[in-house]
Amino acid sequence: MDATPDCLLPAVALPAAECRGVYEAILTRRDTRGEFLPDPVPDEVLSRLLVAAHHAPSVGFMQPWSFLVVRDPAVRKTVHDAFLKAHAEAALMFPEDKQDIYRSLKLEGIMEAPVNICVTCDRDRAGPVVIGRTHIRTMDLYSSVCAVQNLWLAARAEGLGVGWVSIFDNGVVQRALNIPQRVIPIAYLCVGKIRGYHPKPELEAAGWLPRLPLDQLIHFDQWGNDTADGGLLDRLRADQRAVNEGEFLTDRLPK
Ligand SMILES: Cc1cc2nc3c(=O)[nH]c(=O)nc-3n(C[C@H](O)[C@H](O)[C@H](O)COP(=O)(O)O)c2cc1C
Repeated sequence: MDATPDCLLPAVALPAAECRGVYEAILTRRDTRGEFLPDPVPDEVLSRLLVAAHHAPSVGFMQPWSFLVVRDPAVRKTVHDAFLKAHAEAALMFPEDKQDIYRSLKLEGIMEAPVNICVTCDRDRAGPVVIGRTHIRTMDLYSSVCAVQNLWLAARAEGLGVGWVSIFDNGVVQRALNIPQRVIPIAYLCVGKIRGYHPKPELEAAGWLPRLPLDQLIHFDQWGNDTADGGLLDRLRADQRAVNEGEFLTDRLPK
């Protein structure tokens, strides 16, 4: 790609098909639990996912993440056991009429996925004072989450599934993976080839929660002021309708 004379890369939209690809990855990415195939993920693909993750934004450019690639069935079994324990405890936390539905949901693919990846956050990676983290200490944790999202979208682009598992005692995972104390396990991801993507979030399809109407989540200038810009809201509603009707990628993007 040619640089413009002052060394900036041109700020132009991606060619239409590539732009659509980005939105397609975003809209069709799913959390994957029960669809993993045993086929190994080739190193060249895994490497690309990790490159994508490593190019996430991070506060003060501290890049607080590390990536633990977990293949050993014994290590994964320890994590899976931690999941089973927490899952049983979790069921009892929901109202009684929801407990059976909760128990029926498949919420991990730790043993079925050919590889697990734990994304971590080293809170001391760039010393005690970090640009952008001086006043909000949690910004480093958010940075590692950005890496997770990059990996998740890259995996969708590669036709792989990713499932985030968070139902366990993080301390058990920390010990199982021998992660030092100052490093926080942020995301435990199951990664692999899959049978296919669910068209909707599984929790939506199961009637657990609906996708919220986006136009009801927008405020203008002050929290609670939600009517100031009817033009944008009309546009949002039409875009959301197009998403629901499967027409967003074909009808709502620049040609
Ligand atoms: C921080 C975080 C933690 C999650 N933990 C779990 C989990 O423990 N088990 C699970 O099945 N899904 C988990 N998910 C996936 C969500 O349930 C899923 O993203 C959501 O239902 C929307 O579905 P979608 O990702 O397929 O669009 C997690 C997602 C996030 C962002």
